[in-house]
Amino acid sequence: MPERILVADDQTVMQDLLTDLLEQRGAEAVAVGTAEEGLEMISKSPDAFDLVILDLDFGDGKMNGIAGLEAIKKINPTIPVIILTGKGTISTAVEAIKLGAQEYVEKNFYIEENMDLALTRLDHLIRATIDNKRLRREREFYREELKGQYNIVGKSRAIQQVLEQIKVVAPIPRPVLIRGERGTGKELVAAAIHQNSDRKKGAFITINCAALAEGLLECELFGQEDNAFTNASFREGRFVLADKGTLFLDEIGNMSVEFQQKILRVLEYQQFERVGGTKTIKVDVRLLAATNSDIEANIDAGKFRADLYDRLAFETIWLPPLREWKADIELLCYHFMERLAAEVAGIKPKKLTPETLDYLNAYHWPGNVRELKYVIERVTYKFDGGTIFPHHLPQEILTAYSHSDDGQSLSGRLAQVEKQILTDAYEQFQGNLEDTARELNVPLDSLKQLMQKHHIGEEMAR
Ligand SMILES: Nc1ncnc2c1ncn2[C@@H]1O[C@H](COP(=O)(O)OP(=O)(O)OP(=O)(O)O)[C@@H](O)[C@H]1O
Ligand SMILES: [Mg+2]
Repeated sequence: MPERILVADDQTVMQDLLTDLLEQRGAEAVAVGTAEEGLEMISKSPDAFDLVILDLDFGDGKMNGIAGLEAIKKINPTIPVIILTGKGTISTAVEAIKLGAQEYVEKNFYIEENMDLALTRLDHLIRATIDNKRLRREREFYREELKGQYNIVGKSRAIQQVLEQIKVVAPIPRPVLIRGERGTGKELVAAAIHQNSDRKKGAFITINCAALAEGLLECELFGQEDNAFTNASFREGRFVLADKGTLFLDEIGNMSVEFQQKILRVLEYQQFERVGGTKTIKVDVRLLAATNSDIEANIDAGKFRADLYDRLAFETIWLPPLREWKADIELLCYHFMERLAAEVAGIKPKKLTPETLDYLNAYHWPGNVRELKYVIERVTYKFDGGTIFPHHLPQEILTAYSHSDDGQSLSGRLAQVEKQILTDAYEQFQGNLEDTARELNVPLDSLKQLMQKHHIGEEMAR
């Protein structure tokens, strides 16, 4: 992610010059003309910027740079600040450094070169700010996710067994391999294992191994030493960040065999070197891994190391696809609606009609719980009214339902029998609804609804 830099200077020429320079370096620059404006942006969103470049003098009647600096540092003491100084303000610049500014750059003929140097000197700090910010966000996300035990929802045996397995395996300081189709809750289970272990006070750090090119993955995992020669800047590495905690390696199915060797080494000895470094670093990390690929096939094909598999799969938790625990669909729907309502003001949970549930049950859910979650969230915010009817559901679910009357499921078979009885009676009384209702002993209204549901009488009515 590129760094976002705030430039506060009252001269547009200076704003343009600095913005150009920053954008050339790949940063995203936002320029404002007064310290007040900058301050307002930072107080609205203290993490919005990774660096502030602040002029000292904004003219009469305006807040000056020193006051601006003090206010900024009060809101977020970790934002690095570079002060711009004009002629005769060097002594003020010294004061600014005392107040926590990292650098000052004089506005003179060499401003571009000097700014470039200052930025390079601060690179380390800016990276660290960005890293910390990202980690803070991730941790916040997990804190939310981990709130309460209600996270993993499901009363069916399949899910209860998973919960039982989590409880048993969580306190054992060994790797766990979590397997299952996409969207079945692998990450949720990893977080639950961490939360149920005695490492729960430590960090829960995740990394998606499929999302990064291998060189980057290596830097992210093991860290990287400063190297002026290759322009590489320091990175702590997630193994270190997860020290005394848990590291979750997501989607491990496609790492190269050489890289698997490196992971194996850390697993065995809990030590490694940073990229570009020679010092051996020791850590105490519990590893969890997840995949939805066919590891056994990959092992046979020589794409996955059997010894790494053996290590990771000290214990394996298999997550069932949602189609195998459809009995919990209703529970999950209400859970997701309640969570959305708690998150977004003005949204209330809705009711699902029995027909809507029939439709949800008939669908095969290739994207599993995640797909169900998104479907339910979408219909909850999109439509007015307190009830979700089948016609609110997305097309693929409607289509699946119309093809699902194959007489296989209990509900499908019952529906077929119901339709047959209705059709027979309807024909017997030649389309007279009152007589049909009396014969079947159902109220007329209910009969009409049932007829509609099974599309009976529609041809005759035409
Ligand atoms: N049993 C469950 N109860 C409540 N929410 C669940 C359950 N299982 C999954 N979820 C929710 O479904 C979504 C997908 O879960 P998660 O990200 O853990 O799946 P995953 O198996 O890691 O998927 P992928 O393979 O695509 O990465 C998340 O929002 C998660 O909170
Ligand atoms: Mg996942």
